[in-house]
Amino acid sequence: MAGVHLMALAPRVHLSSSAPSRLGRTALMVSASSLQNHRPLLLQQQHLRSPDLVELEYADLKLKEKVGEVGHVRIRQHVNPLSASFSTSPEIPNWDGVFEDPKLPLMVDIGSGSGRFLMWLAKKHPQSRNYLGLEIREKLVKRAQFWVKELSLKNIHFMFANATVAFKELVSAYPGPLMCVSILCPDPHFKKRHHKRRVLQKPLVDSILESLVPGGQVFMQSDVLEVAHEMRDQFDACSSIFKHIDIINPDIPCDSEGWILSNPMGIRTEREIHAESEGAKIYRRMYQKI
Ligand SMILES: C[S@@+](CC[C@H](N)C(=O)[O-])C[C@H]1O[C@@H](n2cnc3c(N)ncnc32)[C@H](O)[C@@H]1O
Repeated sequence: MAGVHLMALAPRVHLSSSAPSRLGRTALMVSASSLQNHRPLLLQQQHLRSPDLVELEYADLKLKEKVGEVGHVRIRQHVNPLSASFSTSPEIPNWDGVFEDPKLPLMVDIGSGSGRFLMWLAKKHPQSRNYLGLEIREKLVKRAQFWVKELSLKNIHFMFANATVAFKELVSAYPGPLMCVSILCPDPHFKKRHHKRRVLQKPLVDSILESLVPGGQVFMQSDVLEVAHEMRDQFDACSSIFKHIDIINPDIPCDSEGWILSNPMGIRTEREIHAESEGAKIYRRMYQKI
């Protein structure tokens, strides 16, 4: 997609943490000579556990030592977003209070988890865009907000919210344009009877579609092919409004089915790091509102 500007996308310039399964992918992203230079580092990283790989990937944020009053967070595996306690409308924040410039283009990350991914982007683009993380597990949001303060970031905010219920109201109240929405490794809820708990349901797709400005983008990914297919089918079904982007730039090719072959964001999410360290493939896709 030469000529299309991808908000928040950055060519991957650093050699990321790599487990054995990722060596092939990493080799795509770095020149042979730089791979040679980093070979001892790659070999060392093969022995790291997934939390260590996360620390390594996010070393710039220096979050390990910043746990402060929130302490170490233990969280339940999944919550049920359909339970009554998650059905209430969100409280709209005072955007002037949460962002230094509340008119900047906004990126929303749905199911932001620990928030590291979005914090990394916010730190990288302090003046040009705002970032909003929506996360249904409150403890993660509290810790993410604690980190935001510690890092003195003025262009990012995390909200405890059920994105399925809250997305539309929140983004319609935002004073600037919605430029990008990411849904990255959403909970798969494998059992058929639990599929309705998956975050990307038709009403959310419609809200994303209505709320994005023309040219705005959706970036989705999953390490579970069935979930990736389901998300793909929902966006493909809106092809009169959403164009599938299959050429990000010459360095980031797609396969014949349009899955992006390497991470175009400049940083991997935690789930992505974990999945790749176990040898899983990540199915990524990009759409743009016409
Ligand atoms: C598998 S984790 C992935 C987190 C992160 N995106 C990543 O790739 O590392 C999925 C996250 O989505 C959150 N989540 C699930 N359903 C949600 C909903 N309806 N609204 C907001 N967050 C949700 C979960 O609590 C969890 O933190």
